[in-house]
Amino acid sequence: MAAIHVSKDLHELNHFAAELFVALVKKIPGRFTVALAGGSTPKALYRLLASDEFRDRIDWPKVFFFFGDERCVPPDHPDSNYRMAKENLFDLLEIGPKNIVRWPAETTRPEEAAAIYENALKDFFSNDSLPRFDLVLLGLGADGHTASLFPFSPALKEASRIAVANPVEKFAANRLTLTFPVINHAANVIFLVSGAEKAGALKEVLEGAPNPDKYPAQMVKPVNGNLLWLIDEPANGQRTADHDQTGN
Ligand code: 6PG
Repeated sequence: MAAIHVSKDLHELNHFAAELFVALVKKIPGRFTVALAGGSTPKALYRLLASDEFRDRIDWPKVFFFFGDERCVPPDHPDSNYRMAKENLFDLLEIGPKNIVRWPAETTRPEEAAAIYENALKDFFSNDSLPRFDLVLLGLGADGHTASLFPFSPALKEASRIAVANPVEKFAANRLTLTFPVINHAANVIFLVSGAEKAGALKEVLEGAPNPDKYPAQMVKPVNGNLLWLIDEPANGQRTADHDQTGN
């Protein structure tokens, strides 16, 4: 079941998300596994979590960081999701390498990088057939993609692999991404969606007719987990339903 929470703006959305993160980590007795979202929206949330306002409220040594997707670039490349998290979270909190499992995106062959990451996940999650993240953070593209699951891309149909290389036509390049089976196996999935440019896609994803090839984010439906959409007013601009509704 999806819940929707509308915040005035990204600042308010991030504070709501940060408080949720604190609560989720506290709720889990052992290690806490989170797959981070990439792109630009989560940057401010990561910095907020690392700020004096929140950093001491989280037992960071128990938190293990993964990535929902990655670009096929080295870890110090400006486009790297790992670099964005490193600069806005890991370095500020002095998170060590043993708490970070990044895609080996510098590997020349994307399929090899995906296979390595898939094995790393299986090792970490003691070979569970399908790792169950405590939390998956996701963004939404203006085209309705999430992670690197882009419209009409092959990975949308992946029903068994955990991590794949996904050729994305509009970039004429591969991306690396977790697949829907593992995303939908998570205990908690939280979308962070901010900005008027996302309003059209958000309306289609939340209220439009089922069209998952065109709007892949429609396929995020945790099988046995919580789904929460954290959106701000500008992103909510085209939705017709009331705010803070609990959708189906
Ligand atoms: C990525 C992300 C991607 C992102 C959306 C939204 O690697 O870019 O994983 O799915 O969440 O494209 O991106 P923005 O937050 O930059 O709008």
